[in-house]
Amino acid sequence: MLEARSIVKTYTIPGQETITILRGVNLNVAAGEMVTIVGASGSGKTTLLNMLGTLDTPDSGDIMFNGMPILSNGGFTLNPKALASFRNTKIGFVFQFHHLLSDFSAAENVAMPEFIATGKLKPAIEKAEELLQSLGLGNRLSHLPSELSGGEQQRVAIARALMNSPMMVLADEPSGNLDSKNSRILYDLIAKLSKEHKTSFIIVTHNEEYAATADRCLSMEDGILH
Ligand SMILES: Nc1ncnc2c1ncn2[C@@H]1O[C@H](COP(=O)(O)OP(=O)(O)OP(=O)(O)O)[C@@H](O)[C@H]1O
Ligand SMILES: [Mg+2]
Repeated sequence: MLEARSIVKTYTIPGQETITILRGVNLNVAAGEMVTIVGASGSGKTTLLNMLGTLDTPDSGDIMFNGMPILSNGGFTLNPKALASFRNTKIGFVFQFHHLLSDFSAAENVAMPEFIATGKLKPAIEKAEELLQSLGLGNRLSHLPSELSGGEQQRVAIARALMNSPMMVLADEPSGNLDSKNSRILYDLIAKLSKEHKTSFIIVTHNEEYAATADRCLSMEDGILH
């Protein structure tokens, strides 16, 4: 489903030498597959997720999504509008710090992207409530983020990522600073979702024990994914 080839990314800070973060990363992910990525801090895991999610461009490399070229020789093949639409409909993001909007309820946070896209509030809220229900948050719909536990906030962030039924979810340390029991609950939930909905998950984690339970566990070392 996803095919990334020879992704190279360097950073140059003015007055300093150029550093190469990704030295030619290759990655294939099948539909419904759950892949974990581990690696030292600073090894380029978030950088890679940003490239796969089309949030940033590499220096060179190619990405195909369902056989369609998205990135060719380091440049996007779609114009900005088509690219945004691709990203909004096909990819879900879960960030390490979940970026929930503090003035909006759990249901409103999950519904927001769809509401913005369609301008219709009621169907968006209904779908959001259904999703939250399925993630065990049916009795937290109108809670503000500050009224939710860390694990509950992470589940709201996952519900938001799943709102548009993406084909692929990119998750950067989704268990963030959860304790081991809540991490386990969260990861079991992700495994269930990937199998039930045939959603592919690429999950960056520092939890090596969990990482080993995925369909495939890869390691980022010296700018290469092993
Ligand atoms: N915009 C930028 N400009 C310059 N250097 C950057 C930039 N973004 C990231 N880097 C550097 O690239 C390297 C990889 O960063 P990245 O965030 O991908 O690491 P990571 O593997 O996600 O680490 P962590 O596990 O700590 O989250 C780091 O050394 C970082 O300093
Ligand atoms: Mg990171």
